[in-house]
Amino acid sequence: MKPETIENRWDILYRDYPEVYDAFASVPYEPKMVDILQEKFNFKGKIVADIGSGSGQSTMGIAKYAEHVIGLEPEAAMRAEAEKNTVEAGLKNISYIDGKAEEMPLEDNSVDMVVALTATMYPPEDVIPVFVKESKRVVRPGGVVVSVDVAPGWYGGELAGVIDDPGADDDLQMKHQIFVEENGFRYLDVIQTSYYGTTEKMLETYGFIFGKKAIEYIKEHKLSQVQWKFRAYYMASETV
Ligand SMILES: C[S@@+](CC[C@H](N)C(=O)[O-])C[C@H]1O[C@@H](n2cnc3c(N)ncnc32)[C@H](O)[C@@H]1O
Repeated sequence: MKPETIENRWDILYRDYPEVYDAFASVPYEPKMVDILQEKFNFKGKIVADIGSGSGQSTMGIAKYAEHVIGLEPEAAMRAEAEKNTVEAGLKNISYIDGKAEEMPLEDNSVDMVVALTATMYPPEDVIPVFVKESKRVVRPGGVVVSVDVAPGWYGGELAGVIDDPGADDDLQMKHQIFVEENGFRYLDVIQTSYYGTTEKMLETYGFIFGKKAIEYIKEHKLSQVQWKFRAYYMASETV
């Protein structure tokens, strides 16, 4: 039986409820991170690897601009959701493959850009250093590596203080430390608002994921939107 919430167990979400993740990831939001990355790095004419492609929302967003996008995703249920969404969208310039950030089944120097949009890299201290090494191996000289995550202090967006998950925030702090302090990545922050439309829709998606404290708060305040801060860590041409 479907529970009221998975209480921040993202692994269960990806395995058992890919359609809920997809509904969560496809609500309208502004501004679009993919459009900001397009302006800064220009996907046009490029071969892009999208690491942790999930239900394909990031992959399809990049495919609007890029020559070809390879969506790399370890969870079979999420790949199936992505394949279905991509066929429905009529997009032909995407291929999905089984793989993970630590071991990319891609040739050396075979892509122009590696992008990871809120890809799970857990635990960060083990996965991120290997992701950086793998990204540098697969990206051609002069290419770009970008990893977008929730900014430190913003787990669950503006409801971070309500959700109060210190472990999740420790991971976000650690990601900043590893990308910026230890690997010389630069970063840019983006404030974004997700519009769930109704309180019910927010409870079914956001509330289902972020737990009972979030559910109570959403009901009490009749919320239907939430603000987030995302951080795009990037390493561009001169350093790759
Ligand atoms: C929050 S979703 C992001 C999906 C998509 N990029 C988007 O923007 O909607 C994170 C995805 O990372 C995947 N994932 C988990 N472990 C991973 C790993 N070690 N390497 C790459 N992806 C991973 C999960 O299965 C999940 O589909």
